[in-house]
Amino acid sequence: MSRETMNMKIAPSILSCDFSAAGEAVEKLEKSGADLVHCDVMDGNFVPPITFGAQMVKNLRPHTRLPLDCHLMVLHPETHIEDFAKAGADYITVHAEACDVLKVMRMIKSLGVKAGAVVNPETAIEKLFPAAEEADMLLVMSVHPGWGGQKFIPESLEKLEKLKNFCISHGFTPDIEIDGGVTEENVKEIREAGANVIVAGSAVFRSPDMKKTIARLRG
Ligand code: DX5
Ligand code: ZN
Repeated sequence: MSRETMNMKIAPSILSCDFSAAGEAVEKLEKSGADLVHCDVMDGNFVPPITFGAQMVKNLRPHTRLPLDCHLMVLHPETHIEDFAKAGADYITVHAEACDVLKVMRMIKSLGVKAGAVVNPETAIEKLFPAAEEADMLLVMSVHPGWGGQKFIPESLEKLEKLKNFCISHGFTPDIEIDGGVTEENVKEIREAGANVIVAGSAVFRSPDMKKTIARLRG
């Protein structure tokens, strides 16, 4: 295994699972070699759909030892982070379009949880730069948030490269995560552009062999 491959983490999104059997789904992810469980929290305001909140995270917690990577697509995320921390979130990632990310990331870290910042496709990647030094995770959305199964927006590759170069040139070492439209076909160029945490919803849950797909996404 190369150093790059060792550093790669696969974070399947449970957005694509059957919510009535979410516990079993995360158990299966763990057995299939996933590194994180990506939890897409949507409030019906920041994005049109509603998914689930901290209660789901609390209910999933006993089903897996994998870190729970909570992506908050919500307005006023600062009002929810304590609930997610108490529920057992390992990472909480908040949107630059919804809050002052640096301020909210500091709140997240003060609760003993790893903190991330994310930008939507139409937001300049530079918006993440002020958060880069303190972030545990920086996330680039490669689809418009709200739904699984969309097509990867190719301009996201350039954003990943810019972000990676910025971090390298300043000696910052956050994980760099990509979210949306990742497939076994496009993952190589995504990895090469600088992402080391790969979110994949439909690619994993629609796969006839989850374990193989996770291994292939890792490279
Ligand atoms: C979109 C979510 C993504 C989504 C990814 O709003 O943040 O995590 O579930 O799903 P796929 O991999 O199907 O694009
Ligand atoms: Zn997500």
